[in-house]
This record gives sequence, C-alpha cells and structure tokens, in this order.
Amino acid sequence: MSDAVLELAGVSKVFGAGADRLEIFAGVDLRVEAARKVVITGESGCGKSTLLNIIGGLEAASGGSVRAGPYQIDSLDERGLTAYRRGYLGLVFQFHHLLKDFTALENVMLPAFIAGVPMREATERARSLLADVNLEHRASHYPSQMSGGERQRAAVARALVNDPALVLADEPTGNLDPANAATVRELLFSVVSARRRALVLVTHDREMALAGDERYRFEGMRLVRQ
Ligand SMILES: Nc1ncnc2c1ncn2[C@@H]1O[C@H](COP(=O)(O)OP(=O)(O)O)[C@@H](O)[C@H]1O
Ligand SMILES: [Mg+2]
Repeated sequence: MSDAVLELAGVSKVFGAGADRLEIFAGVDLRVEAARKVVITGESGCGKSTLLNIIGGLEAASGGSVRAGPYQIDSLDERGLTAYRRGYLGLVFQFHHLLKDFTALENVMLPAFIAGVPMREATERARSLLADVNLEHRASHYPSQMSGGERQRAAVARALVNDPALVLADEPTGNLDPANAATVRELLFSVVSARRRALVLVTHDREMALAGDERYRFEGMRLVRQ
C-alpha cells in the first residue's frame, strides 16, 4: 500500500506568530490512490487553497508529512519542487492563467515543450486534449477571443499535457456561471477519468462534491471524510 499517488499524514498549517498566530488546520490525513477523484469542500477561508498549495509544493506545511509517489514534498529543495511540479502535477486554478499572446493550442502545448517533448509530439498531445475538452475549433484562438468557460477548458487541457499522475484543481469553476461551470466540471472529470489520472479538487460548491469518488470536508481545523 505504499504506491499511493498522494499521502498526507498529520499535516498542519499555521500562519504568523505571537499575537498574529493563526492556526488554519491540524492533523490532516489524506490518501489518494491512482485514478481516484477526491473532492474537498469547506467554507470560504477554511484553508482549502492553503492545503492545495501545500500539496502542490507552492507553500510549506508547518508540520506533518506530504508524500506524492516518489516525492517527499516536505524535504525537497526548490529544484526538487520544480521537478515535482513539472513531472508529476497538473494544476487548474480559479483563474485560467493562460498566456494572452499565445493561442489555445500553444498554451496547451507549452508545458510539454518546456519539459523537452519534441514540437511535433507536443502539438499532437495538445490537439488531442483540446478535442477532449471540445475546443478543437478554438485551437488558433487567443484567450481574449474565447469565453470564460472555453478558457477554463483550455486550462484543463493544459494541466494534462504532461500526463501528470495527479491533477490539482482549486475552485476551477468558481468564476463561471452555472451552465459553464457544469460543462467545465463534466469535461474535467471526464478527461481525468479517461486518462486514469488522480484528481484532488477543492471547492466551496457542495454540488461539485457529488462528482467525486471520495469526499472530504473541512470541519473546524480538521479534514473529515464524508
Ligand atoms: N499568506 C498568508 N498569511 C496569513 N494568513 C493567510 C495567508 N494565506 C491564507 N491565509 C489565511 O488562511 C485562511 C485560509 O485561507 P485559504 O486557504 O485561502 O482558504 P479557502 O481557500 O478555503 O477559502 C484564511 O483565513 C486566510 O486569510
Ligand atoms: Mg481558496
């Protein structure tokens, strides 16, 4: 049972010190097996983004162990963290973070190209992923020419281009109207399922939680399995 895609044990987070000390969560345990989709909910401000940033190696935990496959995140240096993020993770945020001077196709293929994948293969991967999120017809469009939902679908495609073991999504539909949110949610879950990747998604939307294989919720400072 040591082959979990992600394993958190006793993870805690404290911001500040002295009078400014703010304990966000403590004793967080979470185990994600390959190809499982885990949804974490909780009120705004409870620490969902903080937890995802810790898993993503973007922020350090105050205590506990964070391991993702072969990576012991809490003991990696910057170089190790970069390798982890590039080689193991796909990230989707509330805001799409697409580069405005690049087309949808270029945005999706860029992480593969940066990782050393030859241009032809990177292009093929990007085209295939754009098709998976129903954006084939938008390949040569710039972000400014796309709707909010389309941009977020391009961001989903981009997150998968390096075939990550684990996809992290932070309120990926938080900025969309309900109809677009439903489309993005369905496409995200279907593309992750089709490629048998694991997903950890955080949201304050209880509806979204129903789409997960496993559900957790922040209750006070604890993460509780539902
Ligand atoms: N860098 C920081 N310094 C101090 N407090 C922070 C910092 N980042 C987040 N917080 C606080 O941590 C709590 C959790 O934030 P966050 O993880 O963004 O919540 P959520 O994503 O669930 O809305 C909030 O009270 C927030 O104000
Ligand atoms: Mg948040």
